[in-house]
Amino acid sequence: MNHRRRSSRSALFLLFCVLSSRTGCSQVLVTENVTAIAGRHAEFSCRVRGADGSPLQWANSDQQTLYFDNKKALRDNRFSLLRHGRAELAIELANVSLSDEGVYICSLFSRPVRTDTATLTVLVAPQPPTLQGDSTELREGDTLAVSCSADQGKPAPSLRWFLRDRELKAGHTTPSEGNGRSYHVSEPTVMETDERMFRASVDLELEVSWLDDGGALVCGVDHPALDKTSLEAQRILHVHYPPRIFVSASSSHPREGQRLDLMCDVQSNPQPSSIHWFRQGANLPENAVISDRRLSFVSLNETDNGTYTCEAENSLGQAQSDYILIVYDEMEMGQRLGSDQAVVGGVIAVVIFITLCLLILLTHYFGRQKGTYLTNEAKGAEDATDADTAILNAEGGRGTQEEKKEYFL
Ligand SMILES: *[C@@H]1O[C@H](CO)[C@@H](O)[C@H](O)[C@H]1NC(C)=O
Ligand SMILES: *[C@@H]1O[C@H](CO)[C@@H](O)[C@H](O)[C@H]1NC(C)=O
Ligand SMILES: *[C@@H]1O[C@H](CO)[C@@H](O)[C@H](O)[C@H]1NC(C)=O
Ligand SMILES: *[C@@H]1O[C@H](CO)[C@@H](O)[C@H](O)[C@H]1NC(C)=O
Repeated sequence: MNHRRRSSRSALFLLFCVLSSRTGCSQVLVTENVTAIAGRHAEFSCRVRGADGSPLQWANSDQQTLYFDNKKALRDNRFSLLRHGRAELAIELANVSLSDEGVYICSLFSRPVRTDTATLTVLVAPQPPTLQGDSTELREGDTLAVSCSADQGKPAPSLRWFLRDRELKAGHTTPSEGNGRSYHVSEPTVMETDERMFRASVDLELEVSWLDDGGALVCGVDHPALDKTSLEAQRILHVHYPPRIFVSASSSHPREGQRLDLMCDVQSNPQPSSIHWFRQGANLPENAVISDRRLSFVSLNETDNGTYTCEAENSLGQAQSDYILIVYDEMEMGQRLGSDQAVVGGVIAVVIFITLCLLILLTHYFGRQKGTYLTNEAKGAEDATDADTAILNAEGGRGTQEEKKEYFL
């Protein structure tokens, strides 16, 4: 397929050059620029359209011949021959380094000599990034100032910050827009360190919250020489904060005789020096058991009603959280159920009553249609859309009663 297309293209080309040149067919060289990663290899290919078998040559930017047809010229064993024929000379350079950058020249020794160039661009992966800045021991609400830099990259590396796997995007963010975080990520600073090699750095200012404690702050490097692998530097944040307390109960509707566990979950850094349970305005019941952070009632009793508080303390402060326990006794539950049933029963009774009323009204109405106009005085009421107008219409209707009678009779 491809081959056929190519040969038809060169046939066209031959036709074109026969028509356009009196001295015979002109040949055209085709080369492409090359981008290679330092340490890997680069491939230089020179193709000839309308080849007549003239010799081909690759030379480096110092005009040193690398290959003349399939003969190696320069003593640099990083160069090797990939393909050689009438229409192509392709060579490979292994272990590319930055000093190999430059313009490579392909020459076709026809008459006249033709040349084309390929520019080699070398990408250099930067060194792993480093973090500089504040100590890692922080207090809740402190502002952490830290800088990440990556050196010796070509082109300049780009750096990104992540906290607990969420990116902290460049710019300034206040808590309302930053998912509860206030931070500032600076624009990158780029410096050319050595010739053609760059160092980039990005500063982060982050107001730490207690939720950041134990979280990983990561600076990641994006660079074209890194393919899919990425370089990163990481720091675990240690944020000190007074206790945060969350109380949870094993049942949302505790009943007399049941077991109930109240859990006191304490988050704090440093660890709490004390955690304890008490009941407000009374002693803890005798049947309540405390084990670690758990307060357990083996069998609830109505007398356990009350407000239970878990309190914890560390060097930075103290906090407490309440749980209001209401023990429902079985009888009360039964009453609640009973009253629910009463409501349901009431509704059913009302529905039946309305249905009966409707039935009576309908029988009444159809009976009158048969020709008895005894209830004619309420005629106006039937046309009314609601009860009030029905009454008004019925009253106003009395005056016209006689006329109507006449009309209908
Ligand atoms: C090859 O690279 C050189 C130097 O960067 C540039 O001037 C030229 O346009 C490039 N050629 C192609 C075909 O991209
Ligand atoms: C690649 O080149 C560097 C210098 O540019 C050299 O130090 C290294 O040993 C070379 N590696 C190989 C595998 O030849
Ligand atoms: C609740 O406690 C009272 C007094 O301690 C006791 O008399 C009663 O039997 C208890 N009720 C249940 C259901 O255990
Ligand atoms: C416990 O609280 C419930 C709900 O307020 C109440 O019905 C019950 O009488 C209380 N029991 C005691 C012993 O205070």
